[in-house]
Amino acid sequence: MFENKVTLVTGSGRGIGATIARHFASLGSDVVVNYFRNPASARETAESIRKLGQKALLVKANMGEMEDIARLFETIEKEFQGLDFFIHNAASGYNRPVMQQRVKGWDWTMNINARSLLFAAQRATPLMVKHGGGAIVAISSPGAGRVLPDYVVVGASKAAIESVTRYLAVELAPQNIVVNAVSPGMVLTEALQHFEMVRTDVHLADRAAGITPAGRLVEPGDIAEVVAFLCSPAASMIRGQVITVDGGASLLAPGLEKSPGSSTI
Ligand SMILES: NC(=O)c1ccc[n+]([C@@H]2O[C@H](COP(=O)([O-])OP(=O)(O)OC[C@H]3O[C@@H](n4cnc5c(N)ncnc54)[C@H](OP(=O)(O)O)[C@@H]3O)[C@@H](O)[C@H]2O)c1
Repeated sequence: MFENKVTLVTGSGRGIGATIARHFASLGSDVVVNYFRNPASARETAESIRKLGQKALLVKANMGEMEDIARLFETIEKEFQGLDFFIHNAASGYNRPVMQQRVKGWDWTMNINARSLLFAAQRATPLMVKHGGGAIVAISSPGAGRVLPDYVVVGASKAAIESVTRYLAVELAPQNIVVNAVSPGMVLTEALQHFEMVRTDVHLADRAAGITPAGRLVEPGDIAEVVAFLCSPAASMIRGQVITVDGGASLLAPGLEKSPGSSTI
């Protein structure tokens, strides 16, 4: 489906990003693997992409730094000349209650998660224009619209991502660039270990799976499939939307959840 395409997936050395990167390679795309702190897992992602017969370009860049963003896109242009898909997946954050937040944590989180979407999209656009258009998919989170424990700054950054997604969708449409976001439910990656309640409550994941209407938690592959669909011609009339991929978990009224298949409420 994506033969002769070039895809950038930020934060694709591990977690959901690595699965998205491998999925796009399995669909025939060359992939730019971006990482920040963990070169070893990024090299593994790149190696698995090469084994699928696709090119993998490994670029270390802190998405919170404007100079790094500029260098990332210059490197892509040098290697591939153009770009088709930009998956804005990298995220970081200071997970603390409201009263323990500091300006440094706000700036760090906002710059890596939200500012980077706008300014990386600016850089991606001329490269996509060279290929006649493209697609941008940003990875958001339920914390954009709901209150999660210790999540205030990440939640605010994800709300900003969803807003920027809508503006990009309208303003980049004349360049034939399709822009949307995906909001995953709970996915068991290392990211969850930053939450105290996940570390201390060993049954949390099982409970969450038990009350999810689809009967299980979301897996990275579920997200990768939807991201790929949003980059496909079949999705070209979906613009500026946030697609929730959570097995129906967010549909439930709090306190009235029941396990799938049970007959009483
Ligand atoms: N897991 C969930 O339940 C869940 C739910 C909703 C939304 N999401 C969203 O899904 C996306 C992926 O989450 P995940 O669970 O896979 O996270 P993760 O396992 O913590 O991985 C985070 C990724 O982001 C990269 N990253 C962090 N800071 C970076 C920076 N400054 N510059 C470039 N890359 C950076 C990391 O690279 P290095 O290791 O090289 O630093 C890593 O590849 C995020 O946007 C997250 O908010 C996750």
